Amino acid sequence: MRWVESGDVRLAVFEEGDPANPTVLLLHGYPDTHRVWNEVATLLRDRYHVVRYDVRGAGESTAPRDRRDYGFDHLVADLGAVIDAQGASRVHLVGHDWGSLQGWEALGRAGLRERIASFTSLGGPGLRQTAHFLRHGRRRDVAVQRIKSWYIGAFQVPVVPELAWGSVMPGVISRTLRREGISPRPGHPAPTLARDGRNGLWMYRRNMGTDGDPGVGDVPVQIIEATRDAFVTPALLASIGQWVPRLRHRKVAAGHWAHRSRPEVVARLIAEFAQSAEPAPAAPTTSATFAASNAPAAASAASAASNAPAAPESAAGSAVSATSAAPAVRWERRAFEGQLVVVTGAGSGIGLATARAFAAHGAEVVCADIDADAAGRAADAIAKDLGGTGHAAQVDVSNIDQMEDFSRNIIAQYGVPDIVVNNAGIVIAGSFLDHTVDDWRRTIDVNLWGVIHGCRLFCAAMVERGEGGHIVNVASLAAFAPSRLLPAYSASKAAVKMLSDCLRAELAGHGIGVSAVCPGFVSTPIARNATYVGADLREEAVRGLARRGYPAERVAAHILRAVHRNQAVVPVNLEGKIGYALSRISPGTMRALARWSGTIRNPGIGR
Ligand code: NAI
Repeated sequence: MRWVESGDVRLAVFEEGDPANPTVLLLHGYPDTHRVWNEVATLLRDRYHVVRYDVRGAGESTAPRDRRDYGFDHLVADLGAVIDAQGASRVHLVGHDWGSLQGWEALGRAGLRERIASFTSLGGPGLRQTAHFLRHGRRRDVAVQRIKSWYIGAFQVPVVPELAWGSVMPGVISRTLRREGISPRPGHPAPTLARDGRNGLWMYRRNMGTDGDPGVGDVPVQIIEATRDAFVTPALLASIGQWVPRLRHRKVAAGHWAHRSRPEVVARLIAEFAQSAEPAPAAPTTSATFAASNAPAAASAASAASNAPAAPESAAGSAVSATSAAPAVRWERRAFEGQLVVVTGAGSGIGLATARAFAAHGAEVVCADIDADAAGRAADAIAKDLGGTGHAAQVDVSNIDQMEDFSRNIIAQYGVPDIVVNNAGIVIAGSFLDHTVDDWRRTIDVNLWGVIHGCRLFCAAMVERGEGGHIVNVASLAAFAPSRLLPAYSASKAAVKMLSDCLRAELAGHGIGVSAVCPGFVSTPIARNATYVGADLREEAVRGLARRGYPAERVAAHILRAVHRNQAVVPVNLEGKIGYALSRISPGTMRALARWSGTIRNPGIGR
């Protein structure tokens, strides 16, 4: 430990690792001390020169003589003094909670900003960005954020919070930590907790009205969103994109103290980001791409997805190939930049349109299909038409061995996917009495088991990685609309929808969203590809779907929006929405319609 003077305050500064390595400066929040970072610092010190200090009035640092000297001018001057004392020209700054607020403030100040090579915020945006959000955000989002920030008002009250720190607050902190699965250990909570809590109240009292230009210059910023953080809403986080030209947004399935409960994930994200922001990275940086996940971008994602260009029918692919026309580190602000997306059934129809839509918005896409040529064409077209990164893979989703190999290869080659779209499906149409056992088996194997395999294999990896993710299961209007012509298909899709609901409940705690997308009739080759048992309705069905004129690209736009908004069930197009509403309001009407369906020239394939 060494002391750094800043005004009338002596800051306790702690260093680990080789000073010749790039410096990572970890800034703690309220009411913590530098020791809250112990685990993360241990994980980083082999590769980085790790610097921490106790903020004025906390831990071993002294408090200012005038207790009002907790304004940002003082806090940011402390930060500058610590950076100067390192002798390093620039640091990778990492801030949690109030440490993050100080980091944002530093980014807003010319002179100090230039000393920050990258900034990782484990917490919310800065106070200037928050002030803008509270003035201009959607009224409902603002109200939710205000409710979550109730304690800020309470801290402004004189004397009472000081008394609380001397009585109940240390117990409240311990209970909150335990609720997050964090056991107390030496240093956290700190033995100085009550005093630190009392002193730190002045940070709230001196800075809460901070307003002004929310711009932060050109410093690369990484937001690590703790998905169970009780204090910061996703809407507030999403608003940051407008201020940061180079933004990466990652999630960690954890509560407020993610650096205590998931230190290995937080350390990895810090290291990845710092490495990508170094001027001349020695190692490849394939995983370090930067995302702007904000509402306007997602809205444009949805609309542009519906305008995605049609796929060319040329260029044969191979069983497993990779085509990449994009640079390893991208700074564009597209909605799915830097995300890895797996789409099954990507060789045709909805899967093809979805793969292209994700690629058009910056994602690296694995196009998987039982038809190797179709998968290859889809991946090639992503590179040629969209300048994106597409990988082709041949897999039969109903085959457990193939799916296990597939998921293992994808994770080994490209990493754990951020988004998996279980879309591959088949239709066998005809009456129940005309379905053979084999017809049932094929339908359930592809439509249900294919989804189960996709969920099981990729969700396990997502949970282990600890950064959340999203699963989209393509069900159908048939999931809630019974029909005389599609007994096996409808049963399989109803199961997919229920599976999605169950998974959504189970995986929410891991920061993994699950959406069941339920389109009505969509004009894809599905009717041509279907098997007809009993009466041959192929030509009628093909004509019927073509006449409907609802393009797969519009379903893709719904899928992108479902991921962005984490929607549970997404009925798509008019008949999809009416069917969904009727199934809830009047299931009897749905049953009556089922008796009618298929009795006249209404094959209803694919819905
Ligand atoms: P499509 O027939 O155009 O495309 C399906 C793709 O899945 C094809 O490329 C096919 O090769 C692939 N595939 C089939 N079996 C596979 C397997 N075992 N393993 C891997 N890939 C396999 O069909 P469409 O319309 O694009 O359908 C996609 C999904 O959307 C399906 O799950 C379907 O049930 C669902 N859906 C379609 C509707 C429609 O009207 N087209 C309506 C509602 C849902």
